[in-house]
Amino acid sequence: MSNIDYSEKIPNNVGLGDDRTLKRALEQWQPNFINWWDDVGPEGSTDYDVYLRTAVSVDPQGWAQFGFVKMRDYRWGIFLNPGDAERKIHFGDHKGEKAWADVPGEHRANLRRIIVTQGDTEPASVEQQRALGLTAPSMYDLRNLFQINVEEGRHLWAMVYLLHKHFGRDGREEAEALLERRSGDENNPRILGAFNEATPDWLSFFMFTYFTDRDGKFQLCALAESSFDPLARTTKFMLTEEAHHMFVGESGVSRVIQRTAAAMNELKTDEASKLRAAGVIDLPTIQRYLNFHYSVTIDLFGADQSSNAATFYSTGIKGRFEEGKRSDDHVLKGQTYRVLEAKDGQLVEKEVPMLNALNEVLRDDFIKDSVAGVGRWNKVLEKAGLPHRLTVPHKAFHRNIGALSGVKVSPDGRVVNEAEWSANVDRWLPSREDRAFVASLMGRVVEPGKFANWIAPPVMGINRQPVDFEYVRFG
Ligand SMILES: [Fe+2]
Ligand SMILES: [Fe+2]
Repeated sequence: MSNIDYSEKIPNNVGLGDDRTLKRALEQWQPNFINWWDDVGPEGSTDYDVYLRTAVSVDPQGWAQFGFVKMRDYRWGIFLNPGDAERKIHFGDHKGEKAWADVPGEHRANLRRIIVTQGDTEPASVEQQRALGLTAPSMYDLRNLFQINVEEGRHLWAMVYLLHKHFGRDGREEAEALLERRSGDENNPRILGAFNEATPDWLSFFMFTYFTDRDGKFQLCALAESSFDPLARTTKFMLTEEAHHMFVGESGVSRVIQRTAAAMNELKTDEASKLRAAGVIDLPTIQRYLNFHYSVTIDLFGADQSSNAATFYSTGIKGRFEEGKRSDDHVLKGQTYRVLEAKDGQLVEKEVPMLNALNEVLRDDFIKDSVAGVGRWNKVLEKAGLPHRLTVPHKAFHRNIGALSGVKVSPDGRVVNEAEWSANVDRWLPSREDRAFVASLMGRVVEPGKFANWIAPPVMGINRQPVDFEYVRFG
């Protein structure tokens, strides 16, 4: 069961060979996917041989194999974690009933919407990152970018499989539409805001993979609890791949901080202008990038009060993060949760039914997880003997969704008026100058073992290869 059939045109462990209609439909979608990749995948990369991992099994021990491949020949396929025929629904109104092997008619529209929304983020990030290869700070980083790109492509496959297999004709139409929307396109944009923002430089890329791929982790974890068993199994396997994306973000930012800290010590200064002149990114700029990506990402969890969130939970479509590890009744009726709102120029907590606040619950779980990594970044500063620290902004800062979207809040959580906001916004969010400065540092460094001046080398290479391994062979 856990081994993947590679003799098929579409590698899979779902017995695709036995379902001729499905196989034919997916084989028709496949060339359109490749066209999409050629069109908006990593720029100029067609002839590169890249040292990539490919899933060969869903066995947690040894699921991947490393080797050189051309990205458009990557074996994108369909991999589900093994199922448990006896699995029971473990939350919501259907708790205790048998999990669904197929989509119940009454939940079809909601399930389709959730799968399409998740699926849409996968190609979106590939589009957002498509030009980054041209300014990679090292061959090691270039390889990591490409690894993330092919795996986001595979995540699209994972969602498209569910649409084709379980949603008939509308599923097939949705699968086509996933290849037609474009990140940032005025007429046909991607569904969610953060996935229409540009990822113009590598600091943005590392912040994106730290924060926004982590949003992916929390969404996938919530879907891995789903009563719709194929969705639970496919998202569980996606999570295996996702861990590397967040590692790239966390270690990437960490290496930027390490390099900046070294320059601060060398030059005995924390003055931004002197550090910039030395070609490293000053900490206030890193903080502003953090503020931006953090706030845009926490918006992705949706409105703090949402009747849809309640429906998704009660009907068993989407659970909470680590639902199975929680010790409450898993039904949540009559329970409450605190959300924030602005009242008379102040942020106040308000108690609301927990079922309606499940977006906020997931957002708060995400916040806890992200703060932990920021603490690890601060260790780098501590180790360098510097007193400076990075922080995550208040959760009401720079919000565009939910009850907080109508107010302006400073990073330390004060409601401010329009004048104070405009006077300070360039200290709180990346300014045009910040972005121009970071852009000015971006240049292609791709000789094995060489690194751009603004980032420290990693502690070790990929798959126990040396740091100066030739991860990408240019054609
Ligand atoms: Fe993904
Ligand atoms: Fe990802």
